[in-house]
Amino acid sequence: MTEIEPLSQPLTIGVEAYISPEYARAEADKLWAKVWQQVGRVEELPKVGSYLTYDIQDDSIIVVRSGPESFRAYYNVCAHRGRRLLDTPEGKHDARGRGRGFTCGYHGWKYNLEGENTFIPQRDDWPCGLTSANNGLTPVKVDTWGGWIWINQDPDAEPLRDYLEPAASLLDHYRTDKFRYRWRRWLVFDCNWKVALEAFMEIYHVPYTHPEFNQFGAQLGWAKAQGKHSNIGFEAPKGLEGNQGKVRIAEGDARVSTAVMQNFIWANANTNTTETLVDVANRLEKELPEGTPPAEVLQYWMKTAREEDAARGVVWPTIPPEVSAKSGTAFQIFPNFQIGHGQNNMLCYSARPYGFDPDKCIFEVAVYQLYPAGEEPETEWEYTPEDSPEWRTVLPQDFSNMAAVQKGMKARGFTGPKPNPYSERSVANLHHNLATYMGTGEPSELT
Ligand code: FES
Ligand SMILES: [Fe+2]
Repeated sequence: MTEIEPLSQPLTIGVEAYISPEYARAEADKLWAKVWQQVGRVEELPKVGSYLTYDIQDDSIIVVRSGPESFRAYYNVCAHRGRRLLDTPEGKHDARGRGRGFTCGYHGWKYNLEGENTFIPQRDDWPCGLTSANNGLTPVKVDTWGGWIWINQDPDAEPLRDYLEPAASLLDHYRTDKFRYRWRRWLVFDCNWKVALEAFMEIYHVPYTHPEFNQFGAQLGWAKAQGKHSNIGFEAPKGLEGNQGKVRIAEGDARVSTAVMQNFIWANANTNTTETLVDVANRLEKELPEGTPPAEVLQYWMKTAREEDAARGVVWPTIPPEVSAKSGTAFQIFPNFQIGHGQNNMLCYSARPYGFDPDKCIFEVAVYQLYPAGEEPETEWEYTPEDSPEWRTVLPQDFSNMAAVQKGMKARGFTGPKPNPYSERSVANLHHNLATYMGTGEPSELT
């Protein structure tokens, strides 16, 4: 008997989680103050004293490398009269820099990297009233996994590793810690953070939102609940399950169609592939005889790209076929981070509320790849509005649905989202888990 996958029955979701101001406000205490959130990469804080800030609704958190192998996180607020310690420069993604500690610009209170107060002007004016119990920075939990830094505001939160399972054990094979940013952009959308993330957590939309992809064969996907998290993948041709993932072959003469698809993706998305993969794809027709079966084309392409990368010091992880089949193309880490893992490149998305406005969110897109040591590009978060040509053509197709969905959710005639029970189970799973935290919004049977 085949096991029935959780959340595989037809379900519907209320619109409250997307549009209600009360729900958005309640997220602060019930959700964001309780979950592990990815706030940046370990390599973004390269030296002792390197810091960055992460804002979520009314809270701002400082994350600092406090020692060669240790991180600390604190609320970004001075213990004296509550001034934010670090201001985010206008138009920037966050505040970042490096120092031996933090000094509040208002009255000069100082803190070291351990969050302890080290200086108070005219301290004697508080006879015995100021102690380490009340004059330091308030800590926030911080940990690392996969090359990312994560924070949790709940002092009683479960350990990060436990929280991330079963995703962590599968994704460990991909050595995501070795990857480095190729580019990263952020923007503000006129939609709820769930609307934005949900646009990327299923393959069901691909043939219609991205019609150009239809020339590369059927775009069919699956989605599975993985506890708090979920994952998605492309349906693999029989016998090729272990090869599925980002690396796919198109229909027709696989030598030609693979090159066409790779060039299309490289030029129009600048995601999901690398220069090496494109270069080798462009030589397939020359290097392989006509009539080479697609599976062999794929194997040759991957093997050659892997060898050419290895020759320049870029070593791909070796993924067991069963791990590749199980991992699919992307994991949705509850509640707001998607890791689109790959053997030599990654595409990740994060979304979070913009203040307490249910109709707005902050969205981040980051593309990573493996580089020879010392050749990693210098990147920073670039604010890139949705109509900027920097996004090329594929992502704007996804972006074009965001505000339109948010508007549609408010229509009197809309009876609630009805995610595909097979290929959009990730959406139902997000709301199932949100309901656990929020105490409302459990998906109900579609009748
Ligand atoms: S508020 Fe920071 S020193 Fe006064
Ligand atoms: Fe898309």
